[in-house]
Amino acid sequence: MKKKSHYQAEIAGTGIYLPEKILTNADLEKTLDTSDEWIRTRTGIQERRIAQKDESSSTLGAHAAKNTLNAAGMTPDELDMIIVCTSTPDVLYPSTACFVQKNLGASKAAAYDISAVCSGFVFGLSIAEQYIKSGRYENVMVIGAEVNSRIMDWTDRKTCILFGDGAGAVIVKRVEKEEPIGILSSHIYSDGNHSDMLIVPGGIGREPVNREAVDNKMYCLKMAGQSTFKMAVKRMTEVSRECLEFNGLSTEDVDVVIPHQANRRIIETVSEKLNMSIDKFFINIHKYGNTSAASIPIALHEARESGRLESGALSLLTVLGAGITWGAAAIRW
Ligand code: COA
Repeated sequence: MKKKSHYQAEIAGTGIYLPEKILTNADLEKTLDTSDEWIRTRTGIQERRIAQKDESSSTLGAHAAKNTLNAAGMTPDELDMIIVCTSTPDVLYPSTACFVQKNLGASKAAAYDISAVCSGFVFGLSIAEQYIKSGRYENVMVIGAEVNSRIMDWTDRKTCILFGDGAGAVIVKRVEKEEPIGILSSHIYSDGNHSDMLIVPGGIGREPVNREAVDNKMYCLKMAGQSTFKMAVKRMTEVSRECLEFNGLSTEDVDVVIPHQANRRIIETVSEKLNMSIDKFFINIHKYGNTSAASIPIALHEARESGRLESGALSLLTVLGAGITWGAAAIRW
């Protein structure tokens, strides 16, 4: 008897956009008490991209979205939904996704932002997966876009060396196939007990913009580096295992892990804990630093472009971000 086919969430295209301006570790040496050697050995980062004045999350996101539409051979009016995952929106409201929608001319698409910081893209992918698998929508675009440079304290060597700007996107498409394809499953979690671990404490509701908030740089990212490091290793390892077990898969089945690019040492420790060769992990942190919600879609696109995600390949996405939030997703190409 023919097996009943059901809706699956295939990745129809990927695309990225990075600002042209490059800020190297050597550039940072000129303004901070730091060194290229310290940054490279402690983080793996060599350079990061910085948005120009007239660029923002919506402009970077729209560029990535157009590249993704081209890659998928689709037009903007085919999009049913645009989810922008960002922690550095253009304005408080309306959502950055509405600016992207306007820029694309995607008149049919419901457009809105979600905020799960570095985990944003996996959270967004999970929302797209549900809309697609339920049959409600045919094409959902998920964009991760950030201008982290706008919330950095450029005098704080413990944080500003880590982050960069950029955008990446995917189109999640509804297909009916018998064999498992596309997003096999996604798993997302939050624990608000650790909300102070990584936080931009001011500039809005709790601490509105005022002279004192500006003087204390309350609009900038504050981070407890070591606790975040440990939490990232623990949660990314745990949720990776859960995701594989859920699908009846083992680490040996995975062709490429696409980890959040926060620190090369975090990625190496996760690879050790999972007992997986580091060669299976796609790493591009040296070029871009941590681009928060854009980190995974940029890495996903580059892994695909490099030929590592051919048809049939299995990729495992894993992430931790402020909130704290964490998640994983398995994608069959
Ligand atoms: N250049 C030179 N020295 C620096 C430095 C820099 N950019 N940043 C910190 N240091 C110094 C510290 O001041 C400290 O000096 P001290 O011992 O004299 O006080 C020393 O280096 C060690 O600092 P420490 O904070 O213990 O370093 P670390 O090995 O934990 O590395 C991070 C710091 C931030 C790189 C690391 O903790 C990290 O990556 N954490 C996770 C961050 C993250 O992933 N965030 C995003 C999650 S989505």
